[in-house]
Amino acid sequence: MAIATKTVKRPTQLRLPIIPENSGESVLNEKDAVFTDPNFSSNKTLPIHRWVPWIAGFSSGFVKSALNGYLKKKGTVLDTFCGVGTTIVEATLGGHNAIGFEINPYAALASRVKANAYHLDLNEFASAIEDFRRFYKKMATSNYEPQSAPPQGFKTRALFYNPLVLHKVLTVQDFVLSIEDDNLRDLFRLAFASTMVSYSNYSYEPSLGRRVSAGREEIHDFPVAKAITDKLFDMMEDITWMQEKMERNNLEVQIINDSFFNCSNHLSPDSIDLVITSPPYLNNYHYNRNTRPQLYWLGYAHSPDDLKKIENMNFGKFWQTVRDLDRLDLSFALPNTDIGERLQTLRTLNNEKGTYGGNGWANYAAAYFNDCHRFAEGIHYVLKCGGTALVVIGNSILQGVMIPTDEYFGKIAESVGLELVKIDIPRATRVGNSIIQSDVRVGKAKLHHQLYEAVVVLRKS
Ligand SMILES: C[S@@+](CC[C@H](N)C(=O)[O-])C[C@H]1O[C@@H](n2cnc3c(N)ncnc32)[C@H](O)[C@@H]1O
Repeated sequence: MAIATKTVKRPTQLRLPIIPENSGESVLNEKDAVFTDPNFSSNKTLPIHRWVPWIAGFSSGFVKSALNGYLKKKGTVLDTFCGVGTTIVEATLGGHNAIGFEINPYAALASRVKANAYHLDLNEFASAIEDFRRFYKKMATSNYEPQSAPPQGFKTRALFYNPLVLHKVLTVQDFVLSIEDDNLRDLFRLAFASTMVSYSNYSYEPSLGRRVSAGREEIHDFPVAKAITDKLFDMMEDITWMQEKMERNNLEVQIINDSFFNCSNHLSPDSIDLVITSPPYLNNYHYNRNTRPQLYWLGYAHSPDDLKKIENMNFGKFWQTVRDLDRLDLSFALPNTDIGERLQTLRTLNNEKGTYGGNGWANYAAAYFNDCHRFAEGIHYVLKCGGTALVVIGNSILQGVMIPTDEYFGKIAESVGLELVKIDIPRATRVGNSIIQSDVRVGKAKLHHQLYEAVVVLRKS
């Protein structure tokens, strides 16, 4: 598609929230540092961060305070599990080089598009939006038959889109496919992918399920093009803000769509100044299953095998994949902790429930901590001497047994040669988005057990 250059007409009044330079969150010194709440929800209204909602992402304020406190000079920041790029965006806004690993191609796309937004030509973007509006208006008033088709392998129990909505979605796909410039096309793909569930018969509760099961009505018709155009306008507004805010520079930004466990294939040892990250928690939240619609519609998955491949790379495995094993044990020794006893206690609980009993959950916890061990080794490999890693991690309650993941992870990190500087707990009660809160498990939890999120601070000396 030919894209003519013209002046950007800013489509809406700028209504960006004003972010104070330091947000009152700067860290005084490492020992006294008190982190802000790492929860993602505050990102939902912030420029760039608001583009793609992501369960269990963390807040930009947290990342900003971490950068202020732990990186005095310009350096290289790594997010080992970068999700939709909160760390990457904040690091580049702060003038640092940034690297992110992410196995989910949809999340990796989001991180990449955000990271590249700084270089985008806004005039071309504005033209493409205008072209889209014109194309869509014309097609909507004719008997247009879209050439695109729904992704073949994408099967859902209920109809994902009702016919009127589907027709509109396919019309949008026709336009998106016609965009020749890769960067512009990716912006449109992301605008579609980040809104696509909102006009489907599914919703996030927080796992993806049928709207009717959550007491909501099906969606028979919807202003699809408007939803996408609104998103595109938000993006344009935010990129304008970003380009005004950032000094021109040649920052190096790299999003690696691979497992962090393969870090030695991509990064040199001792190359990172600061790691800011949050691995999946021990709560079985299935990022890949919950992004099935985006993975299929964006062309990253064509069959269940494609999802399986991503699932197999996932940090900590999933309960469903290890619960039937006779016994999965820790692959490392951790003297002076009760991790072995705690997993053994869990293993003996509710055995009458067979595969749903304690043994399956102990297998899951062991698989999780085995990956914590590989993760800690990876941090040790990439960090420069004197470098720091800040790891946000939530605890867990399995079959009523509290698993202090933060403490165990800290000990594991020590066992691979990292220094455990401290563990901060900025938020004592984690609510809402953890499926661990389901009746099955929380109902059994002892009253004094609370879900919390901790920041584990590690250093390589
Ligand atoms: C808690 S989320 C991180 C969210 C991120 N902090 C943000 O603000 O968007 C964890 C992420 O780790 C990714 N992930 C899981 N296993 C991984 C692995 N082995 N290597 C890289 N990423 C992985 C998941 O797909 C998920 O996006």
